[in-house]
Amino acid sequence: MNPTLSASPTMALIANPYIAYRRLQAIPFPIWLANPGATGGAWLFSRYDDVVAILKEARVSKDISRIVPAERVTPVNHAMLSKDPPDHTRLRALVSLAFTPARIHAMEPRIARVADELLDQLRQRRQADFITDFALPLPVIIIAEMLGVPLTDRDRFRDLSNQVIMGGDANQPGRDISSGSQRAIEALADYFSGLIAERRKNPRADLISDLIAVRDDANRLSETELVGTCILLLIAGHETSANMLGNGMLTLLRFPEQWDLLKRQPEHLPGAVEEILRYESPLQQATFRVAAENFSLGGAEIQQGQQITALLGAANRDPIHFPNPDFFDITRQPNRHIAFGVGIHFCLGSVLARVEGRIGFGKVVEKLPNLQLASETPNWNPNSCLRGLASLPVTL
Ligand code: HEM
Repeated sequence: MNPTLSASPTMALIANPYIAYRRLQAIPFPIWLANPGATGGAWLFSRYDDVVAILKEARVSKDISRIVPAERVTPVNHAMLSKDPPDHTRLRALVSLAFTPARIHAMEPRIARVADELLDQLRQRRQADFITDFALPLPVIIIAEMLGVPLTDRDRFRDLSNQVIMGGDANQPGRDISSGSQRAIEALADYFSGLIAERRKNPRADLISDLIAVRDDANRLSETELVGTCILLLIAGHETSANMLGNGMLTLLRFPEQWDLLKRQPEHLPGAVEEILRYESPLQQATFRVAAENFSLGGAEIQQGQQITALLGAANRDPIHFPNPDFFDITRQPNRHIAFGVGIHFCLGSVLARVEGRIGFGKVVEKLPNLQLASETPNWNPNSCLRGLASLPVTL
């Protein structure tokens, strides 16, 4: 076991996990990280090829009910991210009928308007917190509007979603999810049940109404699947995108020659978004996975019921696939990062996230070219799965 990667990560490890990742990658096979707590431990996959292989492995399950008692399965576990085929295939196909690329591209003018409004407010001041003033509100407003969540409920949503994220580690479902987190999921489930009932009676031009209506032959989403899908889209739809915007801004300002290049040649925006996703991946670890049977992979002898952690953030800095991996280069080509995952659970919202990144950073380049860091020490959230900043003070 590598002593620098403990089951309870220190803040130093959170601030810079990349040294520990490199040490793990030097070991020519996945390692078992023992954890005397409820989970017993997990296999850590850190090398790019191993991470891709394990994420594509059909003998690996995402079904949490294999290891936790029924009362610990939460409403969000009824959505696609916690399902295996054939349920996953059915759910993903149905949701994809409503959450389409066309719907996302139709949102582009609205994303640009919201970004303009937020940055215009921010420009009135000499100092700001890039996270609370821009990186968080932009994706929250967009996913809430797409779903059809009323404006007045937005702040409550942000709080509940935060409680879900901070209270439990998605990769440690056997560990105690805090009662606050559990309550937040229940509160979101209650809220969406009410909203779904209302939209059943009075459908509107929003995602919730469309999710209620979609059907594929005789198939449609059940009530629990609808509620779980709404919670999944709400949480997945803003936390990771907010982290992409925050991590990206920090990184651009830490590499001033890359920031200057982007300002001089904004045509590098799409490449900059890809490099941000690679360099400071918002999801450092893929979500919960457990072996459905015994098998060996990459030199690891995996037993049925053992948990598996795929380190996306490590894979995205693997020197075998990315020359000079610790250098941030917005012109990097090729850039086959796996920040959106691999295989059947590949991120359903990648199109939306990329659009938010391209428009978001495009507007910052246009409106705040003199942005600077107000503090040299980043204030990372204490979460080893979701890599994001609690605050990012900047001067304008
Ligand atoms: C930069 C932003 C984002 C990143 C880095 C990201 C990353 C990921 C990753 C790595 C996965 C796969 C997890 C696994 O296999 O364990 C995933 C799945 C998913 N993401 Fe995203 N995501 C982002 C934004 C979004 C957005 C904006 C939405 C929707 C509004 C979204 C919805 C989903 C859904 C529904 C899944 C589950 C797919 C499935 O199980 O088939 N994501 N995301």
